[in-house]
Amino acid sequence: MLETLEGLPTDAILGIMALFREDQDPGKIDLSVGVYQDEEGLTPILECVRRAEQKLLETQRTKSYVAIAGNAGFNSGIETLLFGADHPALRDGRVSTVQTPGGSGGLCVAAHLILRANPEARVWLSDPSWPNHSPLLKLAGLSLEQYPYYDYENHCIDFDAMFGAFEGLDRGELVLLHGCCHNPSGADLSREQWNALAEQFERRGIVPFIDLAYIGLSEGLEEDAYGVRVMAERLPEVVVVASCSKNLGLYRERVGSASVVSKDPAAAKITLSNASNVARGIYSMPPDHGAAIVAEVLHDDTSRALWFEELGVMRDRLNDLRHLLVDKLVERNAPRDFSFIAQERGMFSFLGISREQVIRLREEFHVYMVESSRINIAGVNQSNAETVADAIVAVL
Ligand code: LMR
Repeated sequence: MLETLEGLPTDAILGIMALFREDQDPGKIDLSVGVYQDEEGLTPILECVRRAEQKLLETQRTKSYVAIAGNAGFNSGIETLLFGADHPALRDGRVSTVQTPGGSGGLCVAAHLILRANPEARVWLSDPSWPNHSPLLKLAGLSLEQYPYYDYENHCIDFDAMFGAFEGLDRGELVLLHGCCHNPSGADLSREQWNALAEQFERRGIVPFIDLAYIGLSEGLEEDAYGVRVMAERLPEVVVVASCSKNLGLYRERVGSASVVSKDPAAAKITLSNASNVARGIYSMPPDHGAAIVAEVLHDDTSRALWFEELGVMRDRLNDLRHLLVDKLVERNAPRDFSFIAQERGMFSFLGISREQVIRLREEFHVYMVESSRINIAGVNQSNAETVADAIVAVL
């Protein structure tokens, strides 16, 4: 049976992480996978998570099943986080949420739900998008297209091209938008652009499919939810997938969600029954541990306040590191303008160098990044920023 299979290249992102682990050089620097690192290069367990986990260990009395839709406290907490407690869609009972195994699990549930509702559905992805969007959604059976997004030359969004492309879409087509911290470019939509898209999607009957994997890491939890909220105010249907990997540092616990805004409460009930049925068919039930931690953090005032603080530290650090790297490049008279890195948001930016230059950085300088030249800004720190800048300038 298996002789029909062919070996595949390693994953574009996780493959680089594996190469990094194999490198024995003590000075190696990892700017590849989107994982937050502190000044020591460690990915810390947040204190709010530690405390919630401790409480869970002391109070949990069983490991029996929870539910197909996961932890109810997690789901309600996430809905409030994404939409805001007073959002009309939430108040009117139009939102249904299932807890999923990570944001990827959320994308998968959403994809199956979309296909079940409309087997002809087409989803438009930004060019570029997270490299796993396309394989994941295709594996679920969705037809995919690409819309213009990042202008590589000017390091900004080509909004006119994007908006123009959407004018050609039919009713019911879906557009996958990154809610904030665009992965891989770091170039985010402004509020005006979100408003313009909400107007356009309403006029043309386009359904937004928003991936909010990095909520809280751009400007703040409320600010980063702007796009989701404005879309859910204007449109009858919105799909939102979120993750707690990055903003709560729960990567390996696999905590995410798929929320759908439906046109009315009766439709929302039907949506939930179908999302639950899809989840049951794929993995039966999501893992509980990480979601139980998040539920505790979100519903306990002290833990929530602590989380906001810790998240703020990660966010501010990311934004400061962007300036640090640009400053170091300027100090070295880099023959290119890298100031765009300081304007972009979240964990990623493209350096805009060739694949050959990326490979040289890896092989000669032990600086690792995805071959598209996407860097994870969190891999930079006060002690390695000069080395990173030296290496970049050396290969230009
Ligand atoms: C990334 O883009 O590096 C992260 O989202 C990790 C992953 O799974 O690809």
